[in-house]
Amino acid sequence: MLQQYMEAIEKSNIISRTDTDGIITFVNDEFCKISGFTKDELIGKNHNIVRHPDVPASAFKLLWDTIKNKQTYKSTVKNLSKDGSTFYVNTTVTPILDKDDNIVEYIAIRYDVTKEVLLKKELEKKEYELEQLNESLEIRVKEQTQQLQELNQTLELRVQEEIIKNEEKQKVMFWQSRLASLGQMLANIAHQWRQPLTELSLATFNIKKAAINKNDEDVKKFYAESKDIIKNMSNTIDDFTNFFKPNKQKKYFYLKDSVNESLSILKKIIKRENIIIETNFMNIEVLGVPNELSQVIINLIQNSKDAFNQNNIEEKVIKITTSKEDRCAIIKIEDNAGGISEENIDKIFEPYFTTKHSSSGTGLGLFMSKMICEQAFNGTILVERNKDGLTIIIKIPLESANG
Ligand SMILES: Nc1ncnc2c1ncn2[C@@H]1O[C@H](COP(=O)(O)OP(=O)(O)OP(=O)(O)O)[C@@H](O)[C@H]1O
Ligand SMILES: [Mg+2]
Repeated sequence: MLQQYMEAIEKSNIISRTDTDGIITFVNDEFCKISGFTKDELIGKNHNIVRHPDVPASAFKLLWDTIKNKQTYKSTVKNLSKDGSTFYVNTTVTPILDKDDNIVEYIAIRYDVTKEVLLKKELEKKEYELEQLNESLEIRVKEQTQQLQELNQTLELRVQEEIIKNEEKQKVMFWQSRLASLGQMLANIAHQWRQPLTELSLATFNIKKAAINKNDEDVKKFYAESKDIIKNMSNTIDDFTNFFKPNKQKKYFYLKDSVNESLSILKKIIKRENIIIETNFMNIEVLGVPNELSQVIINLIQNSKDAFNQNNIEEKVIKITTSKEDRCAIIKIEDNAGGISEENIDKIFEPYFTTKHSSSGTGLGLFMSKMICEQAFNGTILVERNKDGLTIIIKIPLESANG
């Protein structure tokens, strides 16, 4: 029975016996297998032949103190095999006593836990790495959060700056477009004056001739004619100065009056360019600054005129209608000037978008028109294609205009 127990233990464990000085007296096959030594190499040697240099002396002292004290020592021990590799064994060392209670030898029974220990170590390493990672992650999250907060603050500041810049830009654009239309107006005045100036110089020449000939009748006639011409010229100036008066008072006015005002200012150009204007007006009153709406209509007619020229249109027609629809006043300006390409139609209300040479277009006309429609009249402006050109549609809500 005992023999069978012994065999069972021997087969499943790593066993060695030493004398009281630690000299090996017995090892089993398992011991040889794990340590790489043969039985001959082991028997008679001190047990420290498998001692690993990493194990501190204090551990051995504890072992010897324990077993010399007739106690059983239990520990996981790191050992060195013959080929220099490491193995771990879970060791139990028991002193064997004789009948007088004296230690005769020590028996050590172990089993291999190398895999478990290495796994545990690997696990610990991974846990440590994970902890480190976690820590650095936390630090990075903190850093990122701070950066984000800072970014947020500077962003807010920058948004504010941009808003201010934008407002300034709008002002500049407004004045640019005002200057541009002022330039157009001056060109118009010059144009409208050209003919009367010629007439006037002819009239003064005639006065001079009549004076030399002492023809009183003619002097009177040509003097009266000159006066008329001068009055007309003066009226032209009045028209334009009225138009440019910074009169921002809102009032109720008829859409058709505002449109007619624009047409009268552009009448010379319309005539020179052979543009046929067809109108169909409904009596609609809106609230706002009439000059501003006239400014919009002028911009639109000028654009049609430019498109007529660009596309060499022979029969130039602009239809202007005013009507009511869903409690809104609608102004439609429809030309047959050839329209605009698909890719550009969405851009025409953008500031500085122009297809014209820089000397003839700033690209602000429609942008300003949109601003006026939206801000001064609470309305909308949009563009549509028609069969032969573009139609611009202005919608002004009547409630808000009357409110
Ligand atoms: N009736 C139209 N037919 C064809 N294209 C048009 C018409 N109206 C506007 N466009 C296009 O839209 C662009 C932008 O018009 P917008 O009035 O804003 O600027 P612009 O006429 O080029 O310059 P500005 O009016 O400042 O002198 C024009 O350059 C033109 O290409
Ligand atoms: Mg324009």
